[in-house]
Amino acid sequence: MKKKIAVFGTGYVGLVTAVGLAEIGHDVTAVDIDTSRVKELKKGYLPFYEPGLKGMLKKNLTVGKIRFTTEGDEAVTGNNIIFIAVGTPSKADGRVDLSQVDKVFDVITENLDTAKTIIIKSTIPPGTVNSYRELYSSELQTTSSEIIFCPEFLREGTAVHDFFHPDRIVVGADSVEASRTVNSIFFPIISRLDVPVLRCRPVSAEMIKYGSNVMLASRIAVMNELAEMSEAAGGDIREVSAGVGMDKRIGKEFLKAGPGFGGSCFGKDVAGIVRTAEYYGLDLRLISGIIKSNDRQRVRPALRLEKALGSLKGKKIAVLGLAFKADTDDVRGSAAFDVINYLVDKGAQVKAHDPRAEYNFIRLFRKKGYTCTDKAEDALKGAWACIILTEWKEYNDLGPEMFGCLMRGRIIIDARNILDGDAFRYEGFRVFGSGRPETVPAARTIIRSDFVNAAIVSV
Ligand code: UGA
Repeated sequence: MKKKIAVFGTGYVGLVTAVGLAEIGHDVTAVDIDTSRVKELKKGYLPFYEPGLKGMLKKNLTVGKIRFTTEGDEAVTGNNIIFIAVGTPSKADGRVDLSQVDKVFDVITENLDTAKTIIIKSTIPPGTVNSYRELYSSELQTTSSEIIFCPEFLREGTAVHDFFHPDRIVVGADSVEASRTVNSIFFPIISRLDVPVLRCRPVSAEMIKYGSNVMLASRIAVMNELAEMSEAAGGDIREVSAGVGMDKRIGKEFLKAGPGFGGSCFGKDVAGIVRTAEYYGLDLRLISGIIKSNDRQRVRPALRLEKALGSLKGKKIAVLGLAFKADTDDVRGSAAFDVINYLVDKGAQVKAHDPRAEYNFIRLFRKKGYTCTDKAEDALKGAWACIILTEWKEYNDLGPEMFGCLMRGRIIIDARNILDGDAFRYEGFRVFGSGRPETVPAARTIIRSDFVNAAIVSV
C-alpha cells in the first residue's frame, strides 16, 4: 500500500532510499538543509555520480512521486513515516559525530503532532536509539511515536541495484507493530525476492551494521597482508583468493587485494566501533589493528614504485584512478591521496587522471607538484612509470600498445590487478601487481617508444 514518507538527507543513502521508495510506489518528500542541492535535485540533477539513479529520479519527478524541500517542519507534519539518512562522519578522534542526526531529531520532536514511525538509516553507534528514546521519552509517549533502526547495506557504484536486491532487511525495533510498518514499506521488494527480514533489538541492529562493515574491512585487510606475503614468497594472490574463497564457509566475495580499502564507511565504522567500545570500557585489539594495517597498504604502491625506479626525483609519474573504487566519483578515503602525497614529497611530477572523480579530488587535495588531466593518454604521455589505483574498465581497454606508445619508461604498478601482465611483457613492461610476482619483460619485446628506460632495454 502506498505510504507518505519523508526522508531527511540527500547523500548517497538518503537519495537512493528516497528515489527507491518512490520507484516502489510511495509518495516521498526528501529534505535537505542545502538549498542549492535541493534546487538542483528539483531539476533532476544529482549531487554525485551513481549509475542508474538519474533516470529513476527524473522519472519519479515527472510523475510527482518525489519532491525536494528544505522545509523539515512541513515534511514532519505532512508524513507519518520519517527516514533519517543524514551523515554520521568521524570526529578527529574517531568518535562518531551525531550532530546531524541530533538536528533532525530537534526538527521532528518540535513538530510531532501525531504518531510517527521514525526510521534511522544513518549508521549510529550501539546504544544510540536507546539514548534518543530516553531523551525524547515524553514527546514519543504522548504521540505514540516509535524509533526504529534499519541499517543500510548499499554500496556506492551499485547502490540502485543494492536497494532493489538486498540480502536481508534488518529491523531494530522493540514492537511487532513497528516492524510490520517497515515490512509494509518494503513489501514490493521483500515479496518479489523473498528477502529475509530480521527483527531484533535496536542495539543488535546497530551492531549488525558495524559488524558487517568490520567483517568486510577485515577480509580485505587480511587479503592485503597475504598479498604482501605472496609478493615476498613468489605466490599470486589471485590464486590464493580463488582457493580460499572456494571454501563455502568463507565465500569468494571481498577477497580482492588492492591499495587498501577506501570510501567513507569502512575506515569510519572501524574507528567508530573501537571508540564506542572504549566508552563501554573495552579494548578491541583485533579490530583496531585493521586501521593500522590498512593505512600501511595505502602507500604501498608508491613504495613499490620507488623501489623499482630507484629515485622518484624529477620523474613524471602517471597516476590512473582517483576514485576510491570504480563507478563512483567519490574520492573519500581513496589511496590516491596517500600515493600522490608520497610521490610529490619525493620530488616526482605527478599527472593524474580519473574519468569521474577529477573535480572532487582537486577540490579536496590542494598540493603543489601534481596536476590532473581529463585524458588518461595525457597522463601516460612521457611518463617514466604508471600506477593504477582504481579498477576503471577503460584503463584495461587502453591495451598494452597504447601504454607502450605513450610512456617513456616501462614500469607499471597495477595496484588493482586489472592488467593482463603477459600482454604487457611483450611490450617490454615490468608489471607489479598487488600480491603477484613481478612480470618481467619478454626476451623479444616490441619497443614502440623512443624513450625506453635504459635499464629495461638491457633485460
Ligand atoms: C560499504 C559496504 O560494502 C556496504 O555494504 C555499506 O552499506 C557501505 O560501506 C556503507 O556503510 O555505507 P562502499 O564503501 O560503498 O560500501 O564500497 P565497497 O564496495 O564495500 O568498497 C569499499 C572499499 O573496499 C573500496 O575501496 C574497494 O575498492 C575495497 N575493496 C572491496 C577491496 O579492496 N577488495 C575487495 O575485494 C572489495
